[in-house]
Amino acid sequence: MSIAPTPPSKLLLRALAGETLPVPPIWMMRQAGRYLPEYRATRAKAGDFLSLCYTPDLAAEVTLQPIRRYGFDASILFADILLVPQALGLDLWFVTGEGPRLSPIAEKGGVAALKPADAIHDHLAPVYETVKILSRELPSETTLIGFAGAPWTVATYMIAGRGTPDQGPAHALKDENRPEFEALIDRITEATIEYLSAQVAAGAEVVKLFDSWAGSLSGDDLDRYSIAPMARITAALKARHPGLPVIAFPRGAGTRFTDAARAIGADCIAIDDAVSPEWAAEHVQPIACVQGNLASRHMVTGGQDLIDETRRIRDALSKGPHVFNLGHGITPDADPDNVALMIETLRETR
Ligand code: CP3
Repeated sequence: MSIAPTPPSKLLLRALAGETLPVPPIWMMRQAGRYLPEYRATRAKAGDFLSLCYTPDLAAEVTLQPIRRYGFDASILFADILLVPQALGLDLWFVTGEGPRLSPIAEKGGVAALKPADAIHDHLAPVYETVKILSRELPSETTLIGFAGAPWTVATYMIAGRGTPDQGPAHALKDENRPEFEALIDRITEATIEYLSAQVAAGAEVVKLFDSWAGSLSGDDLDRYSIAPMARITAALKARHPGLPVIAFPRGAGTRFTDAARAIGADCIAIDDAVSPEWAAEHVQPIACVQGNLASRHMVTGGQDLIDETRRIRDALSKGPHVFNLGHGITPDADPDNVALMIETLRETR
Protein backbone atom coordinates (compact mmCIF):
# COMPACT_ATOMS: atom_id res chain seq x y z
CA MET A 1 0.00 0.00 0.00
CA SER A 2 1.40 3.40 -0.89
CA ILE A 3 0.94 6.33 1.43
CA ALA A 4 0.31 9.73 -0.14
CA PRO A 5 2.84 12.37 0.96
CA THR A 6 1.46 14.73 3.58
CA PRO A 7 1.30 18.30 2.24
CA PRO A 8 3.52 20.70 4.17
CA SER A 9 1.89 22.72 6.93
CA LYS A 10 4.56 25.35 7.60
CA LEU A 11 3.78 28.55 5.70
CA LEU A 12 7.20 28.88 4.08
CA LEU A 13 7.13 25.28 2.82
CA ARG A 14 3.62 25.81 1.45
CA ALA A 15 4.69 28.89 -0.53
CA LEU A 16 7.77 27.07 -1.83
CA ALA A 17 5.52 24.20 -2.92
CA GLY A 18 3.69 26.68 -5.14
CA GLU A 19 0.72 27.59 -2.99
CA THR A 20 -0.77 31.11 -3.17
CA LEU A 21 -1.42 32.15 0.43
CA PRO A 22 -3.64 34.96 1.76
CA VAL A 23 -0.67 36.36 3.71
CA PRO A 24 2.81 35.43 2.44
CA PRO A 25 5.36 33.98 4.86
CA ILE A 26 8.04 36.47 5.88
CA TRP A 27 11.69 36.37 6.92
CA MET A 28 14.56 38.78 6.37
CA MET A 29 18.05 38.43 4.94
CA ARG A 30 20.59 39.10 7.75
CA GLN A 31 17.73 38.97 10.26
CA ALA A 32 20.28 38.03 12.93
CA GLY A 33 22.58 41.01 12.82
CA ARG A 34 24.03 44.17 14.26
CA TYR A 35 20.77 46.18 14.19
CA LEU A 36 19.63 44.03 17.14
CA PRO A 37 21.05 44.87 20.60
CA GLU A 38 20.74 41.21 21.66
CA TYR A 39 22.91 40.19 18.65
CA ARG A 40 25.57 42.73 19.58
CA ALA A 41 25.60 41.37 23.15
CA THR A 42 26.06 37.74 22.04
CA ARG A 43 28.70 38.75 19.49
CA ALA A 44 30.60 40.56 22.24
CA LYS A 45 30.44 37.38 24.33
CA ALA A 46 31.84 35.36 21.39
CA GLY A 47 34.66 37.88 20.97
CA ASP A 48 34.63 38.09 17.18
CA PHE A 49 32.42 37.22 14.23
CA LEU A 50 34.12 33.94 13.25
CA SER A 51 34.09 32.64 16.83
CA LEU A 52 30.36 33.36 16.82
CA CYS A 53 29.97 31.32 13.59
CA TYR A 54 31.96 28.39 15.00
CA THR A 55 30.41 28.23 18.51
CA PRO A 56 27.20 26.22 18.01
CA ASP A 57 25.41 27.38 21.19
CA LEU A 58 26.03 31.06 20.41
CA ALA A 59 25.34 30.74 16.67
CA ALA A 60 22.05 29.01 17.52
CA GLU A 61 21.27 31.74 20.07
CA VAL A 62 21.65 34.59 17.53
CA THR A 63 19.66 32.61 14.96
CA LEU A 64 16.78 32.33 17.46
CA GLN A 65 16.84 35.99 18.57
CA PRO A 66 14.86 37.44 15.63
CA ILE A 67 12.39 34.54 15.83
CA ARG A 68 11.68 35.32 19.49
CA ARG A 69 11.43 39.04 18.88
CA TYR A 70 9.35 39.03 15.69
CA GLY A 71 7.93 35.54 15.04
CA PHE A 72 9.30 35.27 11.50
CA ASP A 73 8.06 32.27 9.49
CA ALA A 74 11.60 31.17 8.71
CA SER A 75 14.93 31.12 10.42
CA ILE A 76 18.20 31.20 8.51
CA LEU A 77 21.19 29.40 9.96
CA PHE A 78 23.76 31.85 11.33
CA ALA A 79 27.04 31.32 9.49
CA ASP A 80 28.81 32.96 6.54
CA ILE A 81 29.36 32.10 2.88
CA LEU A 82 33.13 32.44 3.39
CA LEU A 83 33.39 29.46 5.76
CA VAL A 84 33.58 27.20 2.68
CA PRO A 85 36.76 28.79 1.25
CA GLN A 86 38.25 28.50 4.73
CA ALA A 87 37.31 24.80 4.82
CA LEU A 88 38.95 24.40 1.40
CA GLY A 89 42.21 25.70 2.87
CA LEU A 90 42.33 29.51 2.56
CA ASP A 91 42.97 31.74 5.57
CA LEU A 92 39.97 33.87 6.57
CA TRP A 93 39.64 36.77 8.98
CA PHE A 94 37.36 39.79 9.39
CA VAL A 95 38.63 43.33 9.80
CA THR A 96 36.22 45.31 11.98
CA GLY A 97 34.49 48.03 10.01
CA GLU A 98 35.94 46.77 6.72
CA GLY A 99 34.76 43.22 6.11
CA PRO A 100 36.28 39.88 5.16
CA ARG A 101 39.88 39.13 4.18
CA LEU A 102 41.15 35.86 2.70
CA SER A 103 44.54 34.74 1.51
CA PRO A 104 44.05 35.06 -2.28
CA ILE A 105 44.01 31.66 -3.94
CA ALA A 106 46.98 32.45 -6.21
CA GLU A 107 49.18 32.99 -3.14
CA LYS A 108 48.19 29.58 -1.80
CA GLY A 109 49.17 27.54 -4.86
CA GLY A 110 45.97 27.85 -6.87
CA VAL A 111 43.15 25.33 -7.22
CA ALA A 112 45.61 22.41 -7.21
CA ALA A 113 46.50 23.22 -3.60
CA LEU A 114 42.89 23.38 -2.33
CA LYS A 115 41.46 20.51 -0.35
CA PRO A 116 39.11 18.11 -2.13
CA ALA A 117 35.40 18.93 -1.82
CA ASP A 118 34.65 16.05 0.52
CA ALA A 119 37.42 17.08 2.94
CA ILE A 120 35.50 20.11 4.23
CA HIS A 121 33.32 18.40 6.82
CA ASP A 122 35.67 18.31 9.82
CA HIS A 123 36.18 22.05 9.58
CA LEU A 124 32.47 22.72 9.15
CA ALA A 125 31.24 20.29 11.82
CA PRO A 126 30.34 23.16 14.24
CA VAL A 127 27.96 24.54 11.59
CA TYR A 128 26.20 21.19 11.32
CA GLU A 129 25.97 21.13 15.12
CA THR A 130 24.29 24.57 15.05
CA VAL A 131 21.73 23.20 12.57
CA LYS A 132 21.03 20.26 14.90
CA ILE A 133 20.46 22.56 17.88
CA LEU A 134 18.14 24.75 15.81
CA SER A 135 16.06 21.90 14.49
CA ARG A 136 15.38 20.94 18.13
CA GLU A 137 14.76 24.44 19.45
CA LEU A 138 12.84 26.30 16.76
CA PRO A 139 9.07 26.68 17.19
CA SER A 140 7.18 24.02 15.22
CA GLU A 141 5.79 26.58 12.74
CA THR A 142 9.20 28.03 11.85
CA THR A 143 11.12 26.66 8.85
CA LEU A 144 14.89 26.25 9.11
CA ILE A 145 16.82 27.50 6.06
CA GLY A 146 20.41 26.41 5.43
CA PHE A 147 22.54 28.31 2.93
CA ALA A 148 25.77 28.69 1.02
CA GLY A 149 27.29 31.21 -1.33
CA ALA A 150 26.94 30.40 -5.02
CA PRO A 151 30.22 29.45 -6.76
CA TRP A 152 30.74 32.72 -8.65
CA THR A 153 30.28 34.93 -5.57
CA VAL A 154 32.49 32.71 -3.41
CA ALA A 155 35.12 32.64 -6.20
CA THR A 156 35.22 36.47 -6.32
CA TYR A 157 36.33 36.53 -2.66
CA MET A 158 38.78 33.62 -3.06
CA ILE A 159 40.45 35.31 -6.03
CA ALA A 160 40.59 38.89 -4.70
CA GLY A 161 41.04 38.03 -1.03
CA ARG A 162 38.37 40.59 -0.13
CA GLY A 163 35.17 42.25 -1.32
CA THR A 164 35.66 44.29 -4.51
CA PRO A 165 33.37 46.91 -6.05
CA ASP A 166 33.41 45.39 -9.56
CA GLN A 167 34.79 41.87 -8.98
CA GLY A 168 37.71 42.93 -11.19
CA PRO A 169 40.26 40.31 -10.07
CA ALA A 170 37.77 37.48 -10.69
CA HIS A 171 36.96 38.79 -14.15
CA ALA A 172 40.69 39.07 -14.85
CA LEU A 173 41.35 35.43 -13.90
CA LYS A 174 38.35 34.34 -16.00
CA ASP A 175 39.75 36.16 -19.02
CA GLU A 176 43.44 35.34 -18.52
CA ASN A 177 43.40 31.77 -17.23
CA ARG A 178 40.03 30.25 -17.98
CA PRO A 179 40.99 26.63 -17.13
CA GLU A 180 42.10 27.69 -13.63
CA PHE A 181 38.97 29.83 -13.18
CA GLU A 182 36.67 27.01 -14.30
CA ALA A 183 38.49 24.51 -12.08
CA LEU A 184 37.83 26.85 -9.16
CA ILE A 185 34.13 27.17 -10.01
CA ASP A 186 33.93 23.37 -10.20
CA ARG A 187 35.67 22.84 -6.86
CA ILE A 188 33.37 25.32 -5.11
CA THR A 189 30.34 23.73 -6.79
CA GLU A 190 31.33 20.28 -5.50
CA ALA A 191 32.11 21.58 -2.01
CA THR A 192 28.77 23.41 -1.91
CA ILE A 193 26.87 20.23 -2.76
CA GLU A 194 28.73 18.46 0.09
CA TYR A 195 28.16 21.33 2.53
CA LEU A 196 24.46 21.83 1.85
CA SER A 197 23.82 18.12 1.81
CA ALA A 198 25.33 17.89 5.30
CA GLN A 199 23.19 20.83 6.47
CA VAL A 200 20.09 18.99 5.22
CA ALA A 201 21.20 15.78 6.94
CA ALA A 202 21.53 17.81 10.18
CA GLY A 203 18.00 19.24 9.86
CA ALA A 204 17.85 22.15 7.38
CA GLU A 205 14.46 22.03 5.64
CA VAL A 206 15.21 24.42 2.77
CA VAL A 207 18.48 25.65 1.29
CA LYS A 208 19.30 29.01 -0.25
CA LEU A 209 22.13 29.90 -2.65
CA PHE A 210 23.40 33.48 -2.46
CA ASP A 211 24.89 34.74 -5.72
CA SER A 212 25.35 38.29 -4.49
CA TRP A 213 27.59 39.31 -7.41
CA ALA A 214 25.66 37.61 -10.25
CA GLY A 215 24.89 41.10 -11.59
CA SER A 216 28.49 41.64 -12.66
CA LEU A 217 28.30 38.70 -15.10
CA SER A 218 26.75 39.36 -18.49
CA GLY A 219 25.69 37.34 -21.51
CA ASP A 220 27.09 33.81 -21.68
CA ASP A 221 29.13 34.38 -18.52
CA LEU A 222 25.93 34.67 -16.48
CA ASP A 223 24.72 31.36 -17.90
CA ARG A 224 28.01 29.55 -17.47
CA TYR A 225 29.26 30.82 -14.12
CA SER A 226 26.16 31.83 -12.16
CA ILE A 227 23.15 29.93 -13.52
CA ALA A 228 24.81 26.65 -14.55
CA PRO A 229 26.64 26.01 -11.24
CA MET A 230 23.47 26.82 -9.27
CA ALA A 231 21.54 24.43 -11.55
CA ARG A 232 24.13 21.71 -10.94
CA ILE A 233 23.96 22.20 -7.16
CA THR A 234 20.15 22.23 -7.21
CA ALA A 235 19.94 19.03 -9.26
CA ALA A 236 22.50 17.21 -7.10
CA LEU A 237 20.77 18.21 -3.87
CA LYS A 238 17.34 17.24 -5.14
CA ALA A 239 18.73 13.86 -6.26
CA ARG A 240 20.20 13.25 -2.79
CA HIS A 241 17.24 14.73 -0.87
CA PRO A 242 14.05 14.24 -2.91
CA GLY A 243 11.55 17.05 -2.37
CA LEU A 244 14.12 19.46 -0.87
CA PRO A 245 13.02 23.05 -1.66
CA VAL A 246 15.74 25.34 -3.02
CA ILE A 247 15.81 29.16 -3.16
CA ALA A 248 18.27 30.81 -5.57
CA PHE A 249 19.32 34.47 -5.36
CA PRO A 250 21.14 35.66 -8.48
CA ARG A 251 21.31 39.24 -7.20
CA GLY A 252 21.41 41.88 -9.90
CA ALA A 253 20.26 39.56 -12.72
CA GLY A 254 17.69 42.15 -13.87
CA THR A 255 15.55 40.96 -16.77
CA ARG A 256 17.52 37.72 -16.70
CA PHE A 257 15.81 36.65 -13.46
CA THR A 258 13.43 34.86 -15.86
CA ASP A 259 16.25 32.82 -17.45
CA ALA A 260 17.54 32.05 -13.98
CA ALA A 261 14.08 30.88 -12.88
CA ARG A 262 13.80 28.60 -15.93
CA ALA A 263 17.32 27.18 -15.90
CA ILE A 264 18.29 26.73 -12.24
CA GLY A 265 15.38 24.48 -11.35
CA ALA A 266 14.98 26.14 -7.93
CA ASP A 267 11.54 26.26 -6.33
CA CYS A 268 11.92 29.95 -5.59
CA ILE A 269 13.84 32.86 -7.08
CA ALA A 270 14.82 35.67 -4.71
CA ILE A 271 14.82 39.09 -6.38
CA ASP A 272 16.56 42.29 -5.34
CA ASP A 273 14.88 45.69 -5.36
CA ALA A 274 16.18 46.75 -8.80
CA VAL A 275 13.18 45.05 -10.44
CA SER A 276 9.59 45.98 -9.64
CA PRO A 277 7.22 43.52 -7.93
CA GLU A 278 4.77 44.06 -10.82
CA TRP A 279 7.44 42.97 -13.32
CA ALA A 280 8.32 39.93 -11.16
CA ALA A 281 4.64 38.96 -10.86
CA GLU A 282 4.30 38.99 -14.63
CA HIS A 283 7.60 37.41 -15.64
CA VAL A 284 9.05 35.33 -12.78
CA GLN A 285 6.08 34.18 -10.68
CA PRO A 286 4.60 32.02 -13.48
CA ILE A 287 7.85 30.00 -13.41
CA ALA A 288 8.69 29.87 -9.68
CA CYS A 289 7.76 31.22 -6.27
CA VAL A 290 9.16 34.77 -5.88
CA GLN A 291 10.95 35.97 -2.76
CA GLY A 292 11.45 39.67 -2.14
CA ASN A 293 11.74 42.56 -2.59
CA LEU A 294 11.41 45.50 -0.18
CA ALA A 295 14.38 47.89 -0.33
CA SER A 296 16.46 47.55 2.86
CA ARG A 297 16.57 51.32 3.33
CA HIS A 298 12.92 51.23 4.49
CA MET A 299 14.19 49.47 7.62
CA VAL A 300 16.18 52.64 8.32
CA THR A 301 13.67 55.27 7.21
CA GLY A 302 10.34 53.68 8.19
CA GLY A 303 7.14 55.74 8.17
CA GLN A 304 4.39 55.85 5.55
CA ASP A 305 6.79 54.93 2.73
CA LEU A 306 7.54 51.63 4.46
CA ILE A 307 3.82 50.93 4.89
CA ASP A 308 2.98 51.84 1.28
CA GLU A 309 5.83 49.85 -0.22
CA THR A 310 5.11 46.76 1.94
CA ARG A 311 1.46 46.81 0.78
CA ARG A 312 2.47 47.39 -2.83
CA ILE A 313 4.78 44.34 -2.89
CA ARG A 314 2.29 42.15 -1.04
CA ASP A 315 -0.50 43.13 -3.44
CA ALA A 316 1.54 42.95 -6.64
CA LEU A 317 2.64 39.40 -5.82
CA SER A 318 -0.64 38.22 -4.25
CA LYS A 319 -1.80 36.15 -7.23
CA GLY A 320 0.95 33.54 -7.00
CA PRO A 321 3.41 31.97 -4.58
CA HIS A 322 5.35 34.66 -2.70
CA VAL A 323 7.76 34.82 0.24
CA PHE A 324 8.03 38.36 1.61
CA ASN A 325 11.62 39.50 2.22
CA LEU A 326 13.94 42.41 1.64
CA GLY A 327 15.80 42.91 -1.65
CA HIS A 328 19.11 42.48 0.21
CA GLY A 329 20.30 42.16 3.82
CA ILE A 330 19.10 44.48 6.58
CA THR A 331 21.81 47.01 7.48
CA PRO A 332 23.28 47.70 10.94
CA ASP A 333 21.70 51.20 11.05
CA ALA A 334 18.15 49.79 10.73
CA ASP A 335 15.60 50.56 13.47
CA PRO A 336 14.19 47.35 15.03
CA ASP A 337 10.78 49.08 15.31
CA ASN A 338 10.61 49.39 11.53
CA VAL A 339 10.92 45.61 11.22
CA ALA A 340 7.91 45.26 13.52
CA LEU A 341 5.99 47.81 11.43
CA MET A 342 6.75 45.89 8.22
CA ILE A 343 5.47 42.61 9.73
CA GLU A 344 2.37 44.28 11.18
CA THR A 345 1.60 45.89 7.79
CA LEU A 346 2.11 42.65 5.90
CA ARG A 347 -0.18 40.70 8.21
CA GLU A 348 -2.93 43.36 8.57
CA THR A 349 -6.37 42.11 7.57
CA ARG A 350 -7.59 43.65 4.38
O1 CP3 B 1 21.01 36.21 6.73
C1 CP3 B 1 21.37 35.81 7.85
O2 CP3 B 1 20.96 36.32 8.91
C2 CP3 B 1 22.25 34.57 7.96
C3 CP3 B 1 23.64 34.80 8.15
C4 CP3 B 1 24.47 35.37 7.02
C5 CP3 B 1 25.58 36.20 7.25
N1 CP3 B 1 26.22 36.40 6.06
C6 CP3 B 1 26.01 36.72 8.55
C7 CP3 B 1 26.92 37.88 8.60
C8 CP3 B 1 24.38 35.15 5.64
C9 CP3 B 1 23.33 34.41 4.84
C10 CP3 B 1 25.51 35.80 5.05
C11 CP3 B 1 25.80 35.75 3.62
C12 CP3 B 1 26.94 36.50 3.09
N2 CP3 B 1 28.14 36.74 3.68
C13 CP3 B 1 26.98 37.03 1.78
C14 CP3 B 1 25.89 36.87 0.74
C15 CP3 B 1 24.72 37.73 1.00
C16 CP3 B 1 24.96 39.17 0.87
O3 CP3 B 1 24.84 39.87 1.89
O4 CP3 B 1 25.25 39.63 -0.26
C17 CP3 B 1 28.22 37.65 1.62
C18 CP3 B 1 28.68 38.38 0.38
C19 CP3 B 1 28.96 37.45 2.82
C20 CP3 B 1 30.36 37.85 3.10
C21 CP3 B 1 30.39 38.80 4.22
N3 CP3 B 1 30.15 38.49 5.53
C22 CP3 B 1 30.65 40.18 4.14
C23 CP3 B 1 30.94 40.94 2.85
C24 CP3 B 1 30.58 40.68 5.44
C25 CP3 B 1 30.92 42.07 5.89
C26 CP3 B 1 29.85 43.03 5.58
C27 CP3 B 1 29.12 43.39 6.83
O5 CP3 B 1 27.88 43.44 6.78
O6 CP3 B 1 29.82 43.67 7.82
C28 CP3 B 1 30.21 39.61 6.29
C29 CP3 B 1 30.00 39.69 7.74
C30 CP3 B 1 28.69 39.20 8.27
N4 CP3 B 1 28.05 38.04 7.86
C31 CP3 B 1 27.92 39.80 9.30
C32 CP3 B 1 26.81 38.96 9.52
C33 CP3 B 1 25.74 39.13 10.54
C34 CP3 B 1 28.31 41.03 10.07
C35 CP3 B 1 29.43 40.64 10.97
C36 CP3 B 1 29.49 41.29 12.31
O7 CP3 B 1 28.74 40.95 13.24
O8 CP3 B 1 30.40 42.13 12.45
